[in-house]
Amino acid sequence: MEGVLHRQRGLLRGARLPGRCRQDGRDRPRPPVRRGPRAAGARPLSGPVSARLPAAVQTGLVAVRRRAEAYPGPVVDLSIGAPTDPTPDVVRAALAAHADAPGYPLTAGRPALREAVVRWLERVHDVTGLDPAHVLPAVGTKELIGSLPLHLGLGAGDVVAQPTPAYPTYAVGTALVGATTAHADSVADLEALAARGSVPRLVWVNSPANPTGRVLPPDALRAILAWCRDHGALLASDECYLDLGWDVDPVSVLHPDVCGGSHDGVVALHSLSKRSNLAGYRIGFLSGDPAVVAELVSVRRNLGLGLPNPQQGAAVAALDDDEHVAVQRARYAGRRSVLRPALEAAGFRVDHSEAGLYLWVTRDEPGPAERRGVDLVGRLADLGLVTVAGAEYGAAGHAHVRLALTAPDDAVALAADRLIQEFRP
Ligand SMILES: Cc1ncc(COP(=O)(O)O)c(C=O)c1O
Repeated sequence: MEGVLHRQRGLLRGARLPGRCRQDGRDRPRPPVRRGPRAAGARPLSGPVSARLPAAVQTGLVAVRRRAEAYPGPVVDLSIGAPTDPTPDVVRAALAAHADAPGYPLTAGRPALREAVVRWLERVHDVTGLDPAHVLPAVGTKELIGSLPLHLGLGAGDVVAQPTPAYPTYAVGTALVGATTAHADSVADLEALAARGSVPRLVWVNSPANPTGRVLPPDALRAILAWCRDHGALLASDECYLDLGWDVDPVSVLHPDVCGGSHDGVVALHSLSKRSNLAGYRIGFLSGDPAVVAELVSVRRNLGLGLPNPQQGAAVAALDDDEHVAVQRARYAGRRSVLRPALEAAGFRVDHSEAGLYLWVTRDEPGPAERRGVDLVGRLADLGLVTVAGAEYGAAGHAHVRLALTAPDDAVALAADRLIQEFRP
C-alpha cells in the first residue's frame, strides 16, 4: 500500500498551495485603478472560460419544451431528473431544529455528520473500515465534481478519463483547468489510453450511471481500481444513484469486495438529492482516500467552502432514516413499472436502465442513425413529452433518448397513455 500512497501523492504534489498570503492586507501592492479605454493588449475578463464548456443540457431543452407546448394537452416533463415529491418530514424537522446557526460551518463538517455518513455506508452498503475523518461534506456533488480537478491541482497537459456517454460535469471540471478529457469505460479503454501515452491522473466512474442506468459489477470496478493504483491515477466514483438499484444491487467502490478493504487511491461521491429527495437542500459528500480527503479539506477551507450547519443537521436525520428512502424508492419503482412497458409497447427498446432514475431508450426509425435520438426527442415532443437526446451526454449517446422517472405519478400515467395510443410501431 505504501507504494500506492507514494504514487497517489504524485497527484497531490501538484495540489500544494504556493504559500500563504497575509491576512491583514498590509504590504500588498495595490492594483492600479484602470480608467478609460482598455490598455492595448489587455484581455477581457469574461468569455473565454464559458467558451471552453459544453452547452448546458437545459439550453437545448428550451426548443424541445416549446415544441411540446404545441400539443393540445398538458406538457409532461421527463427531462431533467429533478425530484418533485415532497421533502421527507423527518428531514424538515431536523432542518428546523438546526435553524439557529450563527457561526460558520466547518469545511470538514461536524463529527455528527461524518459519523452518520459512515453509519449509512456500513448499514446499507456494507462499507467497512471508513473513518469519519475521511469524509468531506459539500454543497451537492455537482460542485464537488466540477471543482475536483482544480482542487487537486490538475491542469494543462493532464488527462482525466470519464465514461461515455456521461454526466456533463466531469468534462466541465476537466475543461475548467485546461486538462484533457479522455473516454474510458473499462480497463481495456484505460490500457488503450496508456498505449497512446495518455495515462490519466484522474479516472471517473459512475455506477449506476447517468444517463444510461448502467451498473458496473464489483469485478469491473475492482479491475479499474487495480489499474488506477498501478498507474498512480486517482479513481473517483460518482455513486449518486447507489440507493436506486432495480434489476441489480449496485456496489460502492468502498465495499471491501472492490477495494480490498483499503481506501487508498479511491474516493466515492454520494448525494442526498435523489436518495432522500433533497436536491433543493444541496447535500453531498466525498469519502475514501485519507490523503485526498485531507488535501481537499485544506484547499476548500481556504475558499470558505462548507455545508451550511442547518443542512448538516438535516443530512444526519436523512442518513439515519431508511423509511423515507423506501417510500421514495416505491414511488420511482411504480413510475418505472408504468413507463417502461408503455415505451416497449410503443416500439422502443430499453437499454441498460437497471438502476437509477432514467430509462435509456431507442427505437428503429428511418433517417440518419446519428440523428436518431434528436429525431425521437422531436417526435416525443409532438406528444407533449419533454425528454433529453442522448447526444447531450456525448456522441456515444446519439441513438438514445433519456426519460426521467421523477415526474409525478399522474404525469407519468399521461405520458404512458400517449405513448401507447399515439406512438404505435
Ligand atoms: C451522475 C450525477 N452525478 C452528480 C449529480 C449531482 O447531484 P447533486 O444534486 O448532489 O449535485 C447528478 C445530478 O443529476 C448526477 O446525475
